[in-house]
Amino acid sequence: MDDHDLAASRRDLLRLAGLASLGAGLARATQDAGPAGQSVAGMRFEVRAKVRLGFIGIGGRGNSLIDEFTAIPDVEILALCDVVPEKTEKAKARLLQSGKPAPELYHEGDHAYEKLVGRDDLDLVIIATPWIWHVPMALAGMKQGKHVAVEVPAARTIDDCWALVDTSEATRRHCIQLENCCYGYNEMMVWNMVRAGLFGEITHAACAYNHDLREILFSNEGEGLWRRFEHLDRNGNLYPTHGLGPVAHYLDINRGDRFDTLVSMSSPVASLPEYRKTHLAADDPRQKEIYRCGDLNISLIRTARGKVITLEHNTSTPQPYDRINLVAGTKGIFRDYPPRIYVDGSPKEEFASIDPYKPKFEHPYWTKLGALALEKGGHGGMDFVMAWRLIECMKEGTAPDIDVYDAAAWSAPGPLSEESVARGSAPVKFPDFTRHRWQGAAG
Ligand SMILES: NC(=O)c1ccc[n+]([C@@H]2O[C@H](COP(=O)([O-])OP(=O)(O)OC[C@H]3O[C@@H](n4cnc5c(N)ncnc54)[C@H](O)[C@@H]3O)[C@@H](O)[C@H]2O)c1
Repeated sequence: MDDHDLAASRRDLLRLAGLASLGAGLARATQDAGPAGQSVAGMRFEVRAKVRLGFIGIGGRGNSLIDEFTAIPDVEILALCDVVPEKTEKAKARLLQSGKPAPELYHEGDHAYEKLVGRDDLDLVIIATPWIWHVPMALAGMKQGKHVAVEVPAARTIDDCWALVDTSEATRRHCIQLENCCYGYNEMMVWNMVRAGLFGEITHAACAYNHDLREILFSNEGEGLWRRFEHLDRNGNLYPTHGLGPVAHYLDINRGDRFDTLVSMSSPVASLPEYRKTHLAADDPRQKEIYRCGDLNISLIRTARGKVITLEHNTSTPQPYDRINLVAGTKGIFRDYPPRIYVDGSPKEEFASIDPYKPKFEHPYWTKLGALALEKGGHGGMDFVMAWRLIECMKEGTAPDIDVYDAAAWSAPGPLSEESVARGSAPVKFPDFTRHRWQGAAG
């Protein structure tokens, strides 16, 4: 199947999946938390000397993750799966060139991944496919006894969030959200500052995924083959986790607090239709597409402890990249892009550089790995720190930093914002994916 065939088949599937699952997700969101399961919060990995990986989805992200993980000692990549055979073959050639053993390749159709997860020699399956495939692949992996690590967002409906939680609990396998932004230099340093009490009692935070993706959305390869279709079917926050993951850490979400209520609004749709006028041929079939997702979606989240978070999504407007990454409390405030800080009692009422704070608050992972991370890793090194940390947890037999409850809670603003927007910005409740276990000690 070539990239264009793939785009056509994905488009129909995506529409069906979007319509069917939105209704189902809303129904489930109003129900109780479902059958009680035995929690996997804090569940340790088995100790192991090496970690054997299989990858599903060898596109832009899959290839960069392969590079991150191969740079870490004691990692073996045994299997690669993609519906486009050339993608697996190219990745295999790169592994061989770097002196690694040949992985086995799987590419016979949309469900070839079922054979990969059925192997008995994999410790972790990494899933970097279009969003609609994350959940079926993660469920298949866990049911076959594999821990899974899923790209963002893990799920796009509330029912699917629950399916991940239920299956992780039933199989006793971890489902990790590969949220690299939690491992950014600033995010890890700010987390340290929060825990040290530099900002006092935290009252609010703000975050975003504001990234001009117009060129990518209209590309004839990679994400252009599937990501724009989400804008046809959904109106809400399509990509909540990059901003929300780090903020969830600052606010001890699922470890002393939890997301409780969300209200959301979407602006009109304007930038994608305008962009295509000048960038696509007049007879290009994409000129007829009708987008539903407002250029800006903005949500307010209130936590169970009354803290407030603003969460933005905007991948359509011409703009500089911005995840906002703001956290504030009774003694001060940090905000990013560019990073700046204000602490109560400062001589001038203006933001200051974070540089003087680095020696005290730089996270030890960055002190230890920073140079290597910057050399090896994408996105300013945070991808490498994330990969290194996950492998460390798996070798040492500790619990992962990010578990299935985080994956579900951080993904849930996608469908919840859709519901709120569709109901005139009505407040909607987050399910308690932890089943009342969120009040535990802060992590
Ligand atoms: N964390 C980050 O910073 C980051 C960055 C980019 C993308 N992502 C995420 O990574 C995922 C992949 O994005 P991408 O940019 O690599 O997209 P992509 O389109 O480049 O790659 C997706 C790959 O999945 C393959 N695929 C599709 N259906 C499949 C199936 N049934 N079985 C096997 N392979 C299948 C495609 O052929 C393609 O090679 C998405 O969830 C995206 O949101 C995360």
